[in-house]
Amino acid sequence: MKIIEGHKEIDVPAGVPVWDVDPYDPAVLVDPSDYYSELRSKGPFAYIPRYSILACGRYEETKEVFSDWERFVSSRGVGLQDFSLGEPWRPPSIVLEVDPPDHTKARAVIERALSPGAIRKLMESYREDAENLIGELLEKGTFEAVEELAETYPTTVFPDAVGLGESDRRRLVDYGEMVFNALGPDNELRRNAMAKGPNVVPWILEQCKRERLEPEGFGATIYAACDTGEITEEEAGLLVRSLLSAGVDTTVAVLGSAIWCLANNPDQFQKLKADPKLARWAFEETLRYTSPVHTFCRTANLDTEVSGVKIAEGTKIICVLGAANLDEDHWPQADKFDIERKPSDHLALGVGIHGCVGQNVARAEADAVLTAIANKVESIELAGEPVWRPNNSVHTLDRLTITFKSK
Ligand code: HEM
Repeated sequence: MKIIEGHKEIDVPAGVPVWDVDPYDPAVLVDPSDYYSELRSKGPFAYIPRYSILACGRYEETKEVFSDWERFVSSRGVGLQDFSLGEPWRPPSIVLEVDPPDHTKARAVIERALSPGAIRKLMESYREDAENLIGELLEKGTFEAVEELAETYPTTVFPDAVGLGESDRRRLVDYGEMVFNALGPDNELRRNAMAKGPNVVPWILEQCKRERLEPEGFGATIYAACDTGEITEEEAGLLVRSLLSAGVDTTVAVLGSAIWCLANNPDQFQKLKADPKLARWAFEETLRYTSPVHTFCRTANLDTEVSGVKIAEGTKIICVLGAANLDEDHWPQADKFDIERKPSDHLALGVGIHGCVGQNVARAEADAVLTAIANKVESIELAGEPVWRPNNSVHTLDRLTITFKSK
């Protein structure tokens, strides 16, 4: 058996086109739209020889593969590496990288910690922090929106919500960068991100300990489940780690992208200003339009078939959520950013049993920020060429210079 990027080499399934593309090429990662449309044009799947994987990017098949946990498992890793063939770089997540019944138990604990009631309690301070930040940026006029808004806001409110004793914006963002780049191949992006490990990983693990957490917060609720014997203390630490892995870079990405979308579409910003309640849908449409998590994998756990394509056990499939969310067959005028579209069935937050457990946290953050912008800012303009930051799994901005104008 030949191993490529930690998984089994497969034969090209009958009827599937071979496509010599590198989905993890930085040029593709920063500007993926041609790659997305070409992938969809290939049919339900394309075989990518460089990594010996299948890729899917049409809405129907992507949804089917991504949500069918019995045939397409997460326990063998949601990146290119197959955990059944070798040790991953860190102990696997006990929620993201497992299947039922283990998943069910951990998921129940984390869902309780991130319950709608828990998030409602935070809303007032979320709104206050957002109003203050947007007020300060409005006074500045022109600012660097990735650093001063998209990174600043989540790394201010989220560590408090988790109950972290200390916050460190750089380390939180860098840890997410490691986790998400690690899902890709052994390329320069992954190697550079992993090189930050010694400065970042011990700090993160320290913050996940029970004694470091405040008595109120998502972390404390997770640890309370050890006292009832539901999970062990070690598992609680891993669940807090999941929050820190998945809850920062994703929200940084969506906030930056939302500002980018509104700056590029002044008519949509005027709609939002006229009815700030559309903030919720501006968030969902940003998710659909920009897919902050562009690609996650699944592994076929048995010989199976999807849309007439025979898929062998051990096949790694990259589910290109970014392509599926722009599929014209599912979304009329898919390339138009329209905050009244109300795309509640986009795949940007996943689907099925692994669907994002933190989505209400992300919604609360985005709602607070977008509502504050709608209420206070008169116009949003690009004040420089936006620069995207390549990452093996996250589509995110690196630099976005913006001018906010008041009346
Ligand atoms: C807009 C921001 C976010 C995006 C785009 C996003 C995206 C996703 C996606 C696509 C999945 C599905 C993964 C899969 O099926 O393999 C997922 C799962 C998950 N997300 Fe999020 N996420 C966001 C925010 C958050 C936040 C704020 C948190 C923590 C508070 C979080 C924690 C998690 C966890 C723990 C899982 C694993 C759930 C499971 O496997 O049952 N996410 N997210």
